[in-house]
Amino acid sequence: MFWSKTLKLAGITSLMMFTTAQAATFDKPETDIKYRQSAFSMIAINFSDMADMVKGKKEWNDAQFQLRAEQLAQLVPMAHTGFGSADSKEGDTKAKAAIWTDADGFATKFAKFTKDTQNLANVAKEGNRGQIKKAFGQAAKNCKSCHSDYKSK
Ligand code: HEC
Repeated sequence: MFWSKTLKLAGITSLMMFTTAQAATFDKPETDIKYRQSAFSMIAINFSDMADMVKGKKEWNDAQFQLRAEQLAQLVPMAHTGFGSADSKEGDTKAKAAIWTDADGFATKFAKFTKDTQNLANVAKEGNRGQIKKAFGQAAKNCKSCHSDYKSK
């Protein structure tokens, strides 16, 4: 199955808990919101640093790129954790209600994001810059693809 394969690729099984509805993943819905937004902030920082190297705005550094890619891959499931409860659809959030009404669609986007960022981390370790740029471009498509459906402006 695609989903279980993705989980295996990502080396995580804890995502399974999203199939059950809960009051809040943490103590309060506000904490869920803060948790996922914090993860996305860190995703963006890692991502833009890699983008600067890919675009030649900053000198390429293999070790640094590998670390950014590795940490990005680790942050993706953390961001996902923050969407565990529909109670967090209201509040200081740009998450659209569709995340919970179209849970399968959202899970599919996250599975693709997990797979592509995991692939980027793996390719980065191999050190072939052409392949790295390709994997980066692939991972980059996920941001807009998900935001346009599930994040309000
Ligand atoms: C699977 C869906 C999905 C993907 C893929 C995704 N995002 Fe998001 N992102 C969201 C949602 C939903 C929010 C709104 C969270 C909220 O406000 O509660 C968000 C919020 C953000 C924020 C705002 C965080 C804050 O401080 O409020 C940033 C920055 C961000 N994303 C960057 C990115 C980048 C960069 C990528 C690609 C590398 C990406 N996102 C990929 C769904 C996604």
